[in-house]
Amino acid sequence: MHRAFVVGVALAVAACRMDNTAKGPSRYALGRAATAAEVAERDVDVSPDGAGLPAGRGTVAQGAALYVAQCASCHGANGEGIPPYPKLIGRDPAAEGFPFGKDPRAARTIGNYWPYATTVFDYVRRAMPQPAPGSLTDDQVYAITAYLLAANRIIPMTATLDSASLAAVKMPYANRFVRDDRRGGKEVR
Ligand code: HEC
Repeated sequence: MHRAFVVGVALAVAACRMDNTAKGPSRYALGRAATAAEVAERDVDVSPDGAGLPAGRGTVAQGAALYVAQCASCHGANGEGIPPYPKLIGRDPAAEGFPFGKDPRAARTIGNYWPYATTVFDYVRRAMPQPAPGSLTDDQVYAITAYLLAANRIIPMTATLDSASLAAVKMPYANRFVRDDRRGGKEVR
């Protein structure tokens, strides 16, 4: 019993030593701290509730012109999507409800699927136009977001969007989504 205890302590001490020697240097003398401007440039996420939306504004009409110039070549003049590029505009099959559970191949659009309008801004600002992501100004992203929402019959064609009005937009199928509160236990099937 006594001997087992001593061996146990010795092993614990050895483990600590190993841990210490395995520890690397505190710095590798590589890179440098990011500047505040560099962090700000990448810190562009927008939450569903609109937190993180920047200053700026844009109208549906401005967005329509930008869409033709910068988006239609892939997403189609009417947002119908030129294969393999995704469709963006269209409330069908909204007329039949929300069929995606039964028909996973049904075409999802901003109008018949997306739960948050703020995600349109976030996604377009960070990822589109695909050949030059990040090239649009915040005003231009507000305008294109306004156009996409109006073309999907969610806001009027006369609308202007800014951070407050965009955060207030309610998407038609938002209530089809539920919070995923699974914790990785038995309830996961
Ligand atoms: C060169 C072709 C191209 C151009 C130009 C382009 N996109 Fe895209 N876009 C894509 C591709 C490819 C995807 C799918 C990306 C993926 O799923 O990873 C996409 C996805 C999207 C989506 C998400 C669709 C969804 O439901 O998943 C939106 C919204 C979008 N683009 C908006 C725009 C806007 C707005 C512009 C113009 C400013 C634009 N795109 C210009 C190719 C393009």
